[in-house]
Amino acid sequence: MNRLECSYAGLKLRSPLTAASSPLTADMAHLKALEEAGIGAVVLKSVFEEQIESESKAALDGLSAGEFADASVYFENFAKNTAVDASLGLLEEAKKTLSVPVFVSLNCVRDGSWYEYAKRAENVGADALELNLFILPSDVRDSSADLERRYLQIIKKTVRSVSIPVCVKLGSYFTGMTHFLKEAAGCGVKGIVLFNRYYNIDFDIDSENVVPAAPLSSPDEYLTTLRWIALSAAELPVDFAAATGIYSAETAFKMIAAGAKTVQLCSVLMKDGVAAAERMRSELLALMDRKGYASLSDFCGKMAQERSADPSAYERHQYIRFLTGSEQK
Ligand SMILES: Cc1cc2nc3c(=O)[nH]c(=O)nc-3n(C[C@H](O)[C@H](O)[C@H](O)COP(=O)(O)O)c2cc1C
Repeated sequence: MNRLECSYAGLKLRSPLTAASSPLTADMAHLKALEEAGIGAVVLKSVFEEQIESESKAALDGLSAGEFADASVYFENFAKNTAVDASLGLLEEAKKTLSVPVFVSLNCVRDGSWYEYAKRAENVGADALELNLFILPSDVRDSSADLERRYLQIIKKTVRSVSIPVCVKLGSYFTGMTHFLKEAAGCGVKGIVLFNRYYNIDFDIDSENVVPAAPLSSPDEYLTTLRWIALSAAELPVDFAAATGIYSAETAFKMIAAGAKTVQLCSVLMKDGVAAAERMRSELLALMDRKGYASLSDFCGKMAQERSADPSAYERHQYIRFLTGSEQK
């Protein structure tokens, strides 16, 4: 019996430790190594709307404005095809070679021609589609309601355009978090990934330039995800995958106890190599032995807020006690 067997988004997985979309899931050599390390599923590197647009732009910049209208259309389609064909080529090879489920990942911020690519990915054999959705809420004209409507439109249309399971990977910038998750679940997604961790900027004081922040997370960044999985997973009729800051079997265990069906690994694999997945797998089994759990279902969701004798503990968010010595509210 495989004690780590689980199901996520309607798919049977041999392990809840899955490979998040990253440079490690962008080539066959790493994908094979991840499978050999016991990973339960892989999410291919996203195809980015932005990337396609900039490729289109680069091609179009070579043309003089107003001239060659037909050529503009040609170059735009050519650029789109370059990124998308490469990703579909990888998907095809991954499906031929790997036995674990392969998720394709699309990043989109607008209603666009994404749906046709989703369909193509399905035709090539993707087991599921992960929508990597993020709109930076930096435009003062956009209200939360406007932004949420945009998210939901993209999700709904994608769900309608394919028959494979659709999951959505979100960031943590939502005002009405649990309400929005309920709305997203209502659109027919089979999985919700909380949370993506985005490219951040930093300032270089000497040059006074904007520079990239450290790309990889650290092991103490899992707490925001843990709280929101614990608050949402048991309440909503959708599977949750936990992401960000998952570096150890202990953290994976906590996420599953909070209600996640799977966890996604990225930084730990990039820092320590794909062998980290193998180590985490055996450490998770050892932890289950120590706790007396035969399978994941023995403890999945056991520490969700809904099952807690003290639900208010999950909602504490101020350090009142440290300041006043009184009980936190
Ligand atoms: C270099 C790099 C590239 C990434 N590329 C993608 C991507 O293409 N699509 C995506 O959904 N997430 C992408 N991510 C985010 C990861 O999948 C993951 O959600 C995030 O890094 C948080 O997990 P971690 O703390 O284990 O790194 C990327 C992360 C890194 C560090």
